[in-house]
Amino acid sequence: MDQVKFSREVMNIKDHSSGHLSQDMVKKLIQQSQEAKTQAYCPYSKFRVGAALLTPDNCVFTGCNVENACYNLGVCAERNAISRAVSEGHRSFKAIAIASDLDDQFISPCGGCRQFMREFGPNWDVYLSKPDGSYLQMTVSELLPASFGPEDLSMKKVFDIPNEY
Ligand code: THU
Repeated sequence: MDQVKFSREVMNIKDHSSGHLSQDMVKKLIQQSQEAKTQAYCPYSKFRVGAALLTPDNCVFTGCNVENACYNLGVCAERNAISRAVSEGHRSFKAIAIASDLDDQFISPCGGCRQFMREFGPNWDVYLSKPDGSYLQMTVSELLPASFGPEDLSMKKVFDIPNEY
């Protein structure tokens, strides 16, 4: 048994850190994403999204979408959750759960968020959920195959551009 830390509560849950999460962990993470969804600031789209991001040491960071009157400045729930975690010193992630109000569809993260997730590795889990708690489990690399990541920047190039370029 391991202690799982959520923002204001501590609960005991089985640790499956080497593989996928237990059913209880997934259920809890989806609940956290649904709670985060209730904070969504989306007066323009009226499309609420919540995300809950789990670290290997079982910290959870949540985020919701935050829109803006200057439409293109809006930020997705997933990106807000990841940015919060990174700002608190976390760069390794085990899973992220995403929630929306779509009744018949699992919420599918936008391309930008897929790339944002991929920055922190291709092999971690994304739970695309419905409001009834059902979910589809995919990995970041399944959502974004043949991706471009930080490692690509240091791959062999035909020439090096000098610093002063
Ligand atoms: N949205 C997210 O927060 N995450 C996604 O993966 C899909 C889209 C938000 C952005 C915008 O505030 C609203 O949903 C409609 O696109």
